[in-house]
Amino acid sequence: MGSRPEAQGVGTVQHLVVAGQGYVGLPLAVEAVRAGHVVVGYDVDERKIASLERGTSYIADIDSETLSEIVRTGRYTPSSHCREMKGFDVAIITVPTPLRDGDPDLSHIESVAETVGRFLERGRRQTVVLESTTYPGTTRDVLVPILERVSKLTAGVDFHVGFSPERIDPGNGTWSFRNTPKIVSGLRDECLRRVAEFYGSVCDDVVTARGLEEAELAKVMENTFRHVNIALVNELAAFADELGIDVWHTLDLAATKPFGYMKFTPGPGVGGHCLPIDPAYLAWHVKKQVGRPFRFVETANEINRAQPRYVVERLTRLLNSRRMPVNGAKVLMYGYAYKKDSSDHRESPAIEIHALLKGLGATVDVVDSFVAGQGIEDVQGAIGPDRISQYDVALIVTDHSDIDYEKVVRDSKLVLDTRNVGCAADHVELL
Ligand SMILES: NC(=O)c1ccc[n+]([C@@H]2O[C@H](COP(=O)([O-])OP(=O)(O)OC[C@H]3O[C@@H](n4cnc5c(N)ncnc54)[C@H](O)[C@@H]3O)[C@@H](O)[C@H]2O)c1
Repeated sequence: MGSRPEAQGVGTVQHLVVAGQGYVGLPLAVEAVRAGHVVVGYDVDERKIASLERGTSYIADIDSETLSEIVRTGRYTPSSHCREMKGFDVAIITVPTPLRDGDPDLSHIESVAETVGRFLERGRRQTVVLESTTYPGTTRDVLVPILERVSKLTAGVDFHVGFSPERIDPGNGTWSFRNTPKIVSGLRDECLRRVAEFYGSVCDDVVTARGLEEAELAKVMENTFRHVNIALVNELAAFADELGIDVWHTLDLAATKPFGYMKFTPGPGVGGHCLPIDPAYLAWHVKKQVGRPFRFVETANEINRAQPRYVVERLTRLLNSRRMPVNGAKVLMYGYAYKKDSSDHRESPAIEIHALLKGLGATVDVVDSFVAGQGIEDVQGAIGPDRISQYDVALIVTDHSDIDYEKVVRDSKLVLDTRNVGCAADHVELL
């Protein structure tokens, strides 16, 4: 941040580093530039940085036109050179927190902390905020010691530290980074004040936690809540099928209760960087600290992880009802991303469904315009309209909104719909 442009229209916090330019970091960087801040988008992935410099986005929620506008302001510098961090006021960490052999892998947080720590300066009172989802205690016990060791400064005295969980919901047109309430926390009162002040400049509504661990736990609780409830309806769907009851209509009925009920729907399984991973962070932490298993998480994992296999079982049964084996069947799969209108296919149930079907000898073509072009076997952006009828069965895995499902249903011989896209017909079976 040597000769840098002036920040515009913001308070005391103006020069920002967002470390990690992925699904969380890039939208945050864009919103911060919009709010008038000067932002370095730091990422170790040089291909991503080259793409950002060209103004080409790889995140569905940020189109390339928006990104180009942000680049043109001169207040956004994508970079894989850590020297660009020099002189920051606020550094926000949005790096991945995956699992390694089922346990939390904090190596990305540790590595970026080593880097950020080098740019903490005595007397500048800079602020470092962790946004990556993780178990309670990570900020205090993992991030702070690294920052202190590398900088030789004291957290809460020479620099500020906070945790603010990200709640971004890719593809959600209603709730954006800006209008979704943002939980903030700090190591000390002054840390909290600084963190809240910064987020107040980019978010409409800032909610303060009473400590780092509360904020960390709130985030993993939100995702665990979703994970458990999805598992509940997935298990119900399997039983309802055997009982001969329409689970989708049943869930619509239950959802008419105006209080004490929240609607969740069955699906092919959970994916992305959150639900398959975050509850495992919480369960690991509870087991390690308290010595007991988090039974809800274990049960939800068991059910949701088995769901792709259940989808294949249902497809097998459906084909069987038409005297067709899976072996040799031509399957047209709609959707590869883990959720609607997203290009994110990390941990997507579609990956396992695709592999299982191919393993059983089916020929599988996948249509997903959001994922196409990423070099994944069998995935294409579109299919000729006259080709749909050449497949034995259409399998709807992701309900992207760019697909004409009425046409899919009209032209297909058989359909298994795991999302309930709303096109009923005799040859359409719902999960
Ligand atoms: N994707 C979501 O919907 C979502 C929502 C809420 C929270 N989160 C959480 O936010 C965090 C980030 O998730 P994401 O989906 O943005 O991941 P991502 O993989 O899309 O992006 C992370 C980026 O960090 C970069 N990176 C890794 N190590 C680095 C380092 N040492 N220095 C600089 N950059 C580094 C990677 O190259 C990558 O581009 C995770 O903890 C995730 O659980 C994600």
